[in-house]
Amino acid sequence: MKKCFTLILLLLSFSEFSTAQKPVQESSGFYQFLSDDPNQKSFFSDRKGVLAKNGMVASAHPEASRVGVEILQAGGNAIDAAIAVQFALAVVHPSAGNIAGGGFLVYRDQSGKTSSIDFREKAPEKGHADMYLDKDGNIIKNASTLGRLASGIPGSVDGMAEAHQKFGKLPWKTLLQPAIDLAEKGVIQTEREARGLNAIKKDLLQLNPDTRYFQKEDGSEWITGDRLVQNDLAKVLKSIQKKGREGFYSGKVAKQLVKDINRNQEGIITRNDLKSYHSKSRETISETYKNYNVITMAPPSSGGIALVQLLRLTEPFPLKKWGWHSDSATQVMIEAERRVYADRAKFLGDPDFIKIPAKNLMDNSYLESRWQTFSWDRASDSKLISSGEITGYESMETTHFSVVDKDGNAVSVTTTLNGSYGSRVVVKGGGYLMNNEMDDFSIKPGTPNMYGLIGNKANAIAPGKRMLSSMTPTIIEKDGKLLMVVGTPGGSTIITSVYQTIVNVIEHGMTMQQAVNALKFHHQWLPDKTTFEANAFSENTIRRLQDKGFILEQQRNTIGRMDCILVTPDGWLEGGSDPRGDDTSVGY
Ligand code: DON
Repeated sequence: MKKCFTLILLLLSFSEFSTAQKPVQESSGFYQFLSDDPNQKSFFSDRKGVLAKNGMVASAHPEASRVGVEILQAGGNAIDAAIAVQFALAVVHPSAGNIAGGGFLVYRDQSGKTSSIDFREKAPEKGHADMYLDKDGNIIKNASTLGRLASGIPGSVDGMAEAHQKFGKLPWKTLLQPAIDLAEKGVIQTEREARGLNAIKKDLLQLNPDTRYFQKEDGSEWITGDRLVQNDLAKVLKSIQKKGREGFYSGKVAKQLVKDINRNQEGIITRNDLKSYHSKSRETISETYKNYNVITMAPPSSGGIALVQLLRLTEPFPLKKWGWHSDSATQVMIEAERRVYADRAKFLGDPDFIKIPAKNLMDNSYLESRWQTFSWDRASDSKLISSGEITGYESMETTHFSVVDKDGNAVSVTTTLNGSYGSRVVVKGGGYLMNNEMDDFSIKPGTPNMYGLIGNKANAIAPGKRMLSSMTPTIIEKDGKLLMVVGTPGGSTIITSVYQTIVNVIEHGMTMQQAVNALKFHHQWLPDKTTFEANAFSENTIRRLQDKGFILEQQRNTIGRMDCILVTPDGWLEGGSDPRGDDTSVGY
């Protein structure tokens, strides 16, 4: 009787999403509870994955996922759907979705061919290494995070145009229309979106004194259920719809952007910066881990190299046997994370400007050497770890979405304004938020950025250079077939969240949704501490790791907002969207 009731409930919870679905979802022996404390649940929530046969979109907002699936149902491929989702997110999820930010797209087509598009922002031509320092060499407070000087040259529109030109099927026009409709008709605010807009009200009014974008007409606070209409943004989207890339990077829209950014000489982006911005097709990183193939983003994202390093560093250890978040598994994963982030700080930056020893960093013998300083008895000391020796080497908001179409083409996109609502500058006449991506450069060697990340020369500002990123859009193959599409926002925690989600599925046999729900932890070399979500470890594990000298700090905030898709052994697509946000998977 109870079973029957559960089945009905499951059927009901899936019915809104898909027509071809199965309400069964069991993993091969997942960790419902912590291995060390049988009473403590290891999941953020009990949300179940969405299963469908023909196509799946997992994104940060239900409206954006719906748009993506409608494009798939209209005969679009995964790239078409991804483009429509990117523009829809710019309307429905303004804290991170964007037209004036940047990101990375990793693509694997049905035949297994892979490619990626780097549409990361660039430093303007007037940018230079000391631009955020005063005459005494001290950092000018907030200059790289708030206001007009904080923006890099936007890359998103060019990235989408490039993706469409190379791989799209439906007309460009069709892909912009859902976003235009959403902007004109308005978007119903979720509790989270309303809270976000209220939180930035003061900054918006201060930085944009002669406009009222993202404000209610009567000046009151946003509440759940309010409708946000964005008419000026709709006009910009129509310009992009009509003229493609040029509808943003030249003409009236570009003029508006440059005029606003240079208001009172506050910013430095020029018409020429916009005109000369081009996204870049890059070879993906494609590296094996056990009998899997990891297809991920190359620099200027640090994510791909770091992810492969993490997987390979812990490959020799029996993580499954030890158990999920057991003392031993946690200890080696923390130590791996510490070492990888130390390498990131030294070696990684824009490959168009610096030489990156990518192969060496992912090489097994190099990685083996990184364990020489490891001891089971004691936490390593980040001050003594630093980066490894490579011979011959000289030297909070983002959003992720995953799409798989009926033919098995898969797209993994992470895109960002950097901080939540970017620089909080809304272009006058355009109604869209600018990024504050310049803070991802190392604005002063050895000084942490807003995610606490340290960098040095490799990631110093130079005109036309791309700032180092942690975004890790990834696709995993098993036996030459598509297995998983993964990614998340979260600044520096992106890499560790993606790593742990993959480990949860591959090593611990979790379903996609369980791996997303599973509680996460994070170490990034400096500061030398492990942050974790409430309940991620048992009291005993925490105490025993502390006895070894690990500094463990429970986070008030959650870690990650994963939006992922898994192909189950019997060919279903399982969408796993993060219950930590409004994230939703929609399939058909
Ligand atoms: O590219 C990066 O690594 C950062 N700009 C990402 C920022 C981010 O994920 C914020 N999200 N919570």
